[in-house]
Amino acid sequence: MRTGDLRLGLRLSRQAGWNQTESDWLRFMSMEPEGCFVAEFNGCPVGTTATCIFDKIAWIAMVLVDKESRGQGVGTKLLKHSLNYLDGLKIKTVRLDATDLGRPIYEKLGFVPEYELARFEGIAQPCKKEPPGGSLKRSLGMVIPAPSPKPAALRMPPFADMIEFDRQITGTNRAKMLGRLFNEFPRNIRILTDGDKIEGFITMRPGANAVQVGPCTATINAGSALLSDALNRCAGKAVFIDMPTGNVHAVKIGESSGLKIQRRFMRMCRGERIKDNIEAIWAGSGPEKG
Ligand SMILES: CC(C)(COP(=O)(O)OP(=O)(O)OC[C@H]1O[C@@H](n2cnc3c(N)ncnc32)[C@H](O)[C@@H]1OP(=O)(O)O)[C@@H](O)C(=O)NCCC(=O)NCCS
Repeated sequence: MRTGDLRLGLRLSRQAGWNQTESDWLRFMSMEPEGCFVAEFNGCPVGTTATCIFDKIAWIAMVLVDKESRGQGVGTKLLKHSLNYLDGLKIKTVRLDATDLGRPIYEKLGFVPEYELARFEGIAQPCKKEPPGGSLKRSLGMVIPAPSPKPAALRMPPFADMIEFDRQITGTNRAKMLGRLFNEFPRNIRILTDGDKIEGFITMRPGANAVQVGPCTATINAGSALLSDALNRCAGKAVFIDMPTGNVHAVKIGESSGLKIQRRFMRMCRGERIKDNIEAIWAGSGPEKG
């Protein structure tokens, strides 16, 4: 896939009702220039997929086939091609977030279910009530990127410390993706700190249908405060938040904020399992990327 295929990518993601924008597609292509693929059927481009590699762990995303060309093996071929590419690079673990349509294909290719995520959607309402864990927020410092309306904005912690914090929770060094998100949307990041210690961070970005809130990794002390703050900042706007349903505190915030579950995804894995800490994952980065 090259930048010339952007129109195809956007057409297919819109056709499927997905939330990706041009900048999401361009980010995929910049993260893995040789690992994003287009499928042609009878000479016409009809499908896409993107891989995203973090050391020996890879994600497969953006598996889309034009409605007119489904059920003829294009999706399976795209997957096999991506897996060959990743096997050639000696990737040990491949993960993805499967929709109901994608899951049967992935199972046939050796992926096994790990855990469920739910996409919450709705119009964000300002949170009136103190969120669970909210009282702890008072002892934590919220880092708001400059120029901030608050005069006493705290200093951003070093990027390397944030990546290490995130790595301990997700089992993955996501510098490649988080660095790009932070650079593209510097005003959207919020970080909670306790002195020099990072307690969590959240960011968000515009989407085709709604603001995509996440990724957010945080301790139990910080996660609910970060999510509630993000919803306050989005008040009145349509939002999507993808949460592991195993993080009961995150789900409670989704429910108590009036958001509804739009659909569910299954996080799946092929190869070595990665131990991530679901209770500290408050929002994914978008279901097609993990
Ligand atoms: C999921 C998706 C990519 C599948 O693409 P596809 O090209 O239809 O996939 P395939 O044709 O390889 O497989 C789909 C079915 O067709 C069957 N099939 C495969 N080759 C076939 C052929 N030559 N003739 C008829 N059927 C065939 C497969 O066995 C599979 O059937 P199953 O549901 O019983 O397992 C497509 O439905 C899509 O774009 N959906 C919307 C976006 C989405 O959900 N993406 C997945 C993200 S996780």
